[in-house]
Amino acid sequence: MADSTFDGVDLHALAQRVGTPCHVYSATAIRQRIEALTTALRGLDAQVCYAVKANSNLAILQLMADAGFGADIVSAGEMLRAVCAGIPAGRIVFSGVGKSADEIAQALDAGIARFNVESADELQLLQRIAAERGAIAHAAVRINPDVDAGTHAKISTGKSENKFGVAIDEARRWFADSARLSHVRLDGLHVHIGSQMLSLDPIRAALRRTAQLRQELTAAGHAIRSIDVGGGLGVSYRAGHDTPVAIADYVDVVRRELDGFDGRILLEPGRWLVAEAGVLLTRVVRIKQGGQRRFLIVDAAMNDLVRPSLYDAWHDIVPLAPDSGASQRYDVVGPVCESSDIFARDRELPECKAGDLLMIKATGAYGASMASNFNSRPLAAEVLVDNGRYAVVRRRQSIHDMIADERAAQEWESA
Ligand code: LLP
Repeated sequence: MADSTFDGVDLHALAQRVGTPCHVYSATAIRQRIEALTTALRGLDAQVCYAVKANSNLAILQLMADAGFGADIVSAGEMLRAVCAGIPAGRIVFSGVGKSADEIAQALDAGIARFNVESADELQLLQRIAAERGAIAHAAVRINPDVDAGTHAKISTGKSENKFGVAIDEARRWFADSARLSHVRLDGLHVHIGSQMLSLDPIRAALRRTAQLRQELTAAGHAIRSIDVGGGLGVSYRAGHDTPVAIADYVDVVRRELDGFDGRILLEPGRWLVAEAGVLLTRVVRIKQGGQRRFLIVDAAMNDLVRPSLYDAWHDIVPLAPDSGASQRYDVVGPVCESSDIFARDRELPECKAGDLLMIKATGAYGASMASNFNSRPLAAEVLVDNGRYAVVRRRQSIHDMIADERAAQEWESA
């Protein structure tokens, strides 16, 4: 039978107490990643800005704050979470192609470290809003190096066809014209080409282009104080199949490619820090023999974990009931009314029965943070486990809370 303890907590007992579906995160596993990254970065002038979107639970952000990490945010909501969790504004960088005027103003007022600017229009808006406030905004150009990250198309960001960043030529023009920006100090470069990368080659290629641009800009008299290398490091979703890059090797590439740069290096890992530290606990509702396939219907669904539906992502699934020795091939599916509500197709698993507990692995990143209320399913509980203890860090949403902001149309107004 598979080990049913997770960071010293018995998952059967936890599922009894908290119910299913439930996201469970190991604080110990996250601290180990934090420590490994911190160790690998030793000797570099580096600041880790955790990508909040990967897992934005306040308890997770607090672990990052405790480690002295900053945050990479993409909305005012993420900024508020980071600040609430104790991450100083001076360690926050703001990425994203659609920052609104209101969000830019909020971030300036909070005093965030840096804006990663992704379009000429955004740069002008930042200049205008900073000028109105008499503030100076520190900004980096997010460059789009036109490098294929070799990952799923939906999580690739560094090809010229993607909406992210600006071409190197455009970045050059921004710097050439930067003296005109009275309230924006354009003194950084940013690059992030994609997510779940299992090879160093695209990372090396993107950094090389960034480093070349940096040298060119420095030679032209522009002070470049920071290079933000983005996130994107992959993790193992499928034991024995995925081989993630070792963190020391990744940092080595950063070290080598940015050799000679004397400013600060920013890193924005998300998934690598949290994915493998999380599991989604779910129970078998029933087994259904269809015309062609055998369905293992569980109480978690695509609204709790959308990665398999959205990216055909593989997540290892481990039943936690005593193993009878027999195995079966199942389509593991949720209750949502979509054929894409599927966690695994034709997966060989130990034979299961209704009521059995399963864990879907490596769900700590882009699991709860991408959850929705589709099919009016309340958001699942989230639990942090830490060396034999557990804390509910998000209570299960009640149906009442889920519908609290809605009402039947009673008071009509005209606009
Ligand atoms: N920095 C920027 C500017 C980003 O856009 C992202 C992720 C990160 C950092 C963090 O990347 P990471 O280290 O986590 O790979 N929902 C998808 C992933 C989307 C990633 C979006 N941007 C998934 O579940 O695979």
